[in-house]
Amino acid sequence: MSITYNEKSRSFKLRANNTDYMFKVINGEYLGHVYYGKKVPDEDMDWLLRLDESPFTPETNNRDRAVYLDTTPFEYPCFGIGDYRESALKILDSEGMSTCDLRYVSHKIYEGKPALEGLPATFTTDKSPAQTLEVTMLDAHTGLEAVLVYSVFENLDVITRSVRFRNTSDKPLKLTRALSACVEFDHDKFDMITLNGSWARERHIERAPLHHGKQSIDSCRGESSHQNNPFAALCEHNADEDRGEVFGFNFVYSGNFIAQAEVTQHKKTRFVMGINPLDFEWLLESGETFTAPEVVMVHSDEGIGKMSRIFHDLYRENLIRGEYKNKRRPILINNWEATYFDFNTDKILSIAKEASKLGIEMLVLDDGWFGHRDSDNSSLGDWFVYEKKLQGGLKHLVDEVNKLGMKFGLWFEPEMVSPDSDLYRAHPDWAIQIKGRDMTLCREQYVLDYSRKEVRDYVYSMMKNILDNANIEYIKWDMNRQLTEVGSAALPAERQRELWHRYVLGVYDLMGRLTTDYPHILLENCSGGGARFDPGILYFSPQIWCSDDTDAIERLKIQHGTSICYPCSTMGAHVSDCPNHTVGRNTPFRTRGHVAMVGTFGYELDVTRIPQEDRDMIPAQIDEFKKYNPLVRTGDHYRIGNMFEDNTWDAWMFVAKDKSEALFEFVQVMARPNMRSRRIKLKGLDPDAYYYEESEPDKLISGAALMNAGINCAKAWGADGIKGDYSSKILHYIKH
Ligand code: GLA
Repeated sequence: MSITYNEKSRSFKLRANNTDYMFKVINGEYLGHVYYGKKVPDEDMDWLLRLDESPFTPETNNRDRAVYLDTTPFEYPCFGIGDYRESALKILDSEGMSTCDLRYVSHKIYEGKPALEGLPATFTTDKSPAQTLEVTMLDAHTGLEAVLVYSVFENLDVITRSVRFRNTSDKPLKLTRALSACVEFDHDKFDMITLNGSWARERHIERAPLHHGKQSIDSCRGESSHQNNPFAALCEHNADEDRGEVFGFNFVYSGNFIAQAEVTQHKKTRFVMGINPLDFEWLLESGETFTAPEVVMVHSDEGIGKMSRIFHDLYRENLIRGEYKNKRRPILINNWEATYFDFNTDKILSIAKEASKLGIEMLVLDDGWFGHRDSDNSSLGDWFVYEKKLQGGLKHLVDEVNKLGMKFGLWFEPEMVSPDSDLYRAHPDWAIQIKGRDMTLCREQYVLDYSRKEVRDYVYSMMKNILDNANIEYIKWDMNRQLTEVGSAALPAERQRELWHRYVLGVYDLMGRLTTDYPHILLENCSGGGARFDPGILYFSPQIWCSDDTDAIERLKIQHGTSICYPCSTMGAHVSDCPNHTVGRNTPFRTRGHVAMVGTFGYELDVTRIPQEDRDMIPAQIDEFKKYNPLVRTGDHYRIGNMFEDNTWDAWMFVAKDKSEALFEFVQVMARPNMRSRRIKLKGLDPDAYYYEESEPDKLISGAALMNAGINCAKAWGADGIKGDYSSKILHYIKH
């Protein structure tokens, strides 16, 4: 049993592999948090709660009730009763009051893990089972019930949390803050790691020591955002990739969120995560329910690297679904950076013809094939073929591409509408807006009101029409702007603030319909590059476009940051043209291939116009990708270099689970004049085994030597292609 309840001490113990998480019912029927960390044999460790230190419990000393409530570590703290730290729950009841006071009522423990209504969430498999604990709490004054849901993955150091609310009274009430998790730590000796950035610079790592007060990242943009990813980790000050205790939190949600650590007056840390309370309200009429999305909590006692590998294992097995879950993805060529909006059937076919000769397996037609779209200022919402551009129609193009032995993929931006579109002219009220206010344009487009079923149905029927009439085997689902003037023509005033969340639920609904009705289509998500790279999206789509920045050197940081909690096999990564369209940098074609090989791999260039020398490299590059992709998809990922600390080089590895082989990749970002080679220690190998590098089969080196002493990289100037800035190499170690 990975979840146990001790009747006598009224304590719960959740054991996730080598991790324990403990809490108990304490005086006043509150839930007090006891412990989260490396597993310990003891059952009842209630001294950790310090309930015998003043101020004593309200029962014995009601005079200091507020002091008690303001110092006790709580599982799910409420606003208004004297706990002045960040609360997880705040309400607005029918009398206009915001206080809530949840107390323990009952609990149940069961095998498996429930699905969350309308929301993506991790699930169990035979290989990776889980147990669940549900603790029912009640605010007797208003009748608000909250069921705290904890699931424990037995083979992984993973605990997930979510909350189900129900209004058991006959009066309406509103949730104005309904976070998914609160975790209390007994000290403040943490660094907080977050993934921050901007367009073309997504998920750069930031790390800073905690200090008094609240430190948070959030999104209030309607999507998880370029700016902050719904991830945060707390780690010991001296934790690094391989050492130290780390607690990672990732929110399985694609809309507004908050992740916040607060250092309190007593130098303790309270961490909370959930839907951003900013502008959030949810009305619960009598009997109605609301589910707060899932938080995934990962504990590692061996540094940030192990935390990442646990996230990767969980997401690859327990979050990603569908036909491509365990399959190599087709090697694609996307026409966006090749043509932008300037293409026609002949142009696309000429790219496809050349690509097919080189071994590329799928042609993806990006933005511009519909309505009368020649630039980004029209036609979103008009999902019918732009016949003037695609002479002969879409089916003709798809058939021709298929005849070349290639699959065909297509771009959509289903959540958007252009003011210049038939859809907007027919249904101006379908766009998110506040009646009477100016509507803010962004990239010349508005956002459709996905809280409305008729809007989703309409968009879906148009998409279906396309999908049912041509052999489309891949979709790129894009989302290129954030929400403003958030109002719906269909919601009553008292439910307007629900639109942020209803929008996300609507997106999930449509993605769910699409993946159910078209299980063979490979869905890739995208949002102005990587603004929606989150676990909520991964539940529907096994890959996400990582960034519009396709420069190999910029990608080192972006992909390193993304790998902190997302598997490399989910990162959309392409070899693109030079000078790079975003940063103007020239990098060797080979390096571009090596960096894209970390992810899903593909090309985003006009293959008919690149230098012959580069074109000639493509077949071998494809073979290399095919050879190593199984390792990337199923192996353990080890980060070795760290461009955030030393931006002159980078290196990483993928090691087979059985340690029988490993791929090592190295990129020299800046050459170092008159220096010897770098000594780089490998990771993750079997120390007791002997390995050889594929090109030197007679030279055996122990895993211990490779890891403790390291290799020289590059051996000599010009050796192994390491010549000049931005050069790269790969080494393949095989167990003897
Ligand atoms: C976004 C995407 C790009 C491309 C364009 C098309 O910016 O990130 O890859 O699809 O939209 O407009």
